[in-house]
Parts: sequence; structure tokens; C-alpha cells
Amino acid sequence: MDLNFDRQPDRRDVPGEKWGRYADRDILPLWVADMDFTAPSPVLEALRNRIDHGVFGYTDAWPSLISAVTDGIERDHGWRVESDWLVWLPGVVTGLNLACRAVGGPGDGVFTATPIYPPFLFAPDNNERRLVSCALEERAGRWHWNREATAAAIDERTRLFMLCNPHNPVGRAFDREELSWIAALAEERDLVICSDEIHCGLVLDADRPHIPIAALDERTARRTITLMAPSKTWNIPSLYCAFAIIPDPALRSRFRRAMRGIVPHVNVLGMVAAEAAYRDGGPWREALLDYLRGNRTRVLEAIAAMPGLRTTSPEATYLAWIDCREAALDDPAAFFEAAGVGLSDGKGFGLAGFVRLNFGCPRSTLDEALARMSRALATRG
Ligand SMILES: Cc1ncc(COP(=O)(O)O)c(C=O)c1O
Repeated sequence: MDLNFDRQPDRRDVPGEKWGRYADRDILPLWVADMDFTAPSPVLEALRNRIDHGVFGYTDAWPSLISAVTDGIERDHGWRVESDWLVWLPGVVTGLNLACRAVGGPGDGVFTATPIYPPFLFAPDNNERRLVSCALEERAGRWHWNREATAAAIDERTRLFMLCNPHNPVGRAFDREELSWIAALAEERDLVICSDEIHCGLVLDADRPHIPIAALDERTARRTITLMAPSKTWNIPSLYCAFAIIPDPALRSRFRRAMRGIVPHVNVLGMVAAEAAYRDGGPWREALLDYLRGNRTRVLEAIAAMPGLRTTSPEATYLAWIDCREAALDDPAAFFEAAGVGLSDGKGFGLAGFVRLNFGCPRSTLDEALARMSRALATRG
């Protein structure tokens, strides 16, 4: 198995968002959330075998795929998922939008806390719902829920709580106590929870396991739509294979109804890759997590040494959420882009003054990007 994460594949060779944005410029792309690593060899081999077959007819999920996924979730996260709880989707963002559409009616509220992965902010309006939000807060180097503000923001027409766990962009893997608080609030206000757990395979802190909120207890499971995919963990996002886990039959049928005539089958290659990833991708994932821990340390040390920049240690994901406000830059993302580093602008996540740095890349690329950032801050006029 190829476990050499130091090798930088030339991504300018193929069309792609991350490297394509800066195709003719000397800007290292550390923005959109995919990694610069080739997919695990069992995934590549499964894809090659399937392509060699040569026939690509319509295909529904098959038994060995379903058991690879349910066994993988039980092995990695201790949650036994029944096969009939699964609803296959071509993407997690599709699932976020379907959840908005399936729960409540026009004008009803959908809660999420900011900063947040931008499609959370658009999904309510896409589906005639109303975004209701409040801010997460950073205290002593860690992001937390503002419980009072959350309870106050959720009005009587709010029907859905959109959770991102592990959290993009702040990198928190929420603990049992925090999740139990969310579950109790959902119970008290009769909210459906839609929990985007796409980053669940990327928990970096060994003592902080991912806890699916639906695994807390049966009552919570019954009001929850969990969204997962192999795409982030095994770096296959453009294969577009994801799934919702919906234990409650009535909620599941509302969700399926919202899909009718709009949401296509999942691409067969995505499903082939998913089976191989969940079944045989464990050793690659372990090696990846080790490598990402090393990259995280590099980021934390480098950012701590940059005047005016602060960050918190991401417990999960390959994303660092960097506070640039004390550096008093007019536009931090544009400033670092001019210095040769492409980052995501915090504005899109609902929090200006921040940037998000993707450290899912070879260490040499990361070191060069951090050196460029540091030089730019040291030499600015
Ligand atoms: C929290 C979160 N959800 C969903 C997605 C994208 O999911 P998909 O490409 O399956 O729609 C991302 C990608 O960055 C993400 O970070």
C-alpha cells in the first residue's frame, strides 16, 4: 500500500478546483477541503477492476457495499446501523438541502451556529426555510457552544438543528456532554437534528473519539438524520458517494419523498470506491492521521510565531481556523493570496477576519506555504 504522504502529485495535470484556481500563478492552494494525496491503493484497485468490466448499467447499493459501510461505522465509531436506515445520496450537501426540505414547511426556521461550512448557510433559503443562527465562541483556545444564545435563537417556528460534527471550520470533535446538551435541547423544542458527520474519520486527538449524536440513545436517534461519506477521510470527494442514516421510518420516508424526481442514483464508481474504503482503508487512514498530526503541529508552531495571528488546535479535520483580526489586515485572504498562499476566506463561513488553512498536503508544500505567510507578515509595509 502506498503510504508515502510526502509525495506531491502534480495536480495541475488534471482539471480540478483546488489547483485549477491558480493554474498559471505561483500560489500554493490550501483552500478547498480535499487533500493532495492519492487515494488508498485498495480503492484504486477496486476502481480499476470495475472499469475493466466495461459495463456501467444502473446500479443500486449491493449487500457487500452495505455491510462494508455498516461494519465500518461500527468498527470505527461503535454505532450499529441497520441497513434499512441508509439512504444513498450523491453528496452530503444534497443531504443538507434535503433535510431542510423534508422538515417543517415554508418559512420555518433552521438553526445552525456560525462560523460554519458555507452550504449550511444557503440550504435553508434554497428550500424556502429561514436561517436562524448564533455564534460559537472561543474561550481559552477552544471553540464552544454559546448555550444561552443558542437557546434564545431557536424560536417557536424552528424545526431543524443543523449540526456539523466534527466541525468545519473550527475543528472541534464535540464531546458526549455537549452532544447530550444538543439532544436535550432538540427534545425540549421538538427539533429534528441533521448531523453532518462527513469528517468523522478524521479525528486527530486519540483520546477524543468521534461520537455520532444519533448513537447517544434511541430517542435522539429517532429525531436525527446523520450524513456521512467516505469522501473526506479517503480523499475521494469527486466520486460523489454519500449516505444519510435515518433510523425513524416516518422521517426516512419524508426524506425520501423530498428526493423524488430530483436526486439521481449514486455513481457506481463512487459506490465501488466506498466499499473498498470502508472495508480495506483502515491502515491507510491510520497512517494518514499520523501524518496529519505532524502537519497540525507544524501549523500550530508556525502560526504561534506569526505576529497578529492566532489559532486553536483542531481536534479533527485537516483544517486550521486562523484568527487574523489582530494583524489588522484589510482582507486577510487577499493578503496571503498576494503572498503566494491560497486560503479560504472566513467571510464565506460567516466570520470575517479569519482564514481557513487546509493542511492535507505534503509537508514540503505546507512548510513552503507557512514560510510565505510568515515572510509576508514580517515584511509588510
Ligand atoms: C462539513 C462538510 N459537509 C459537506 C461537505 C461536502 O460534501 P459533498 O461534497 O459530499 O456534498 C464538506 C466539504 O468540504 C464539508 O466540509
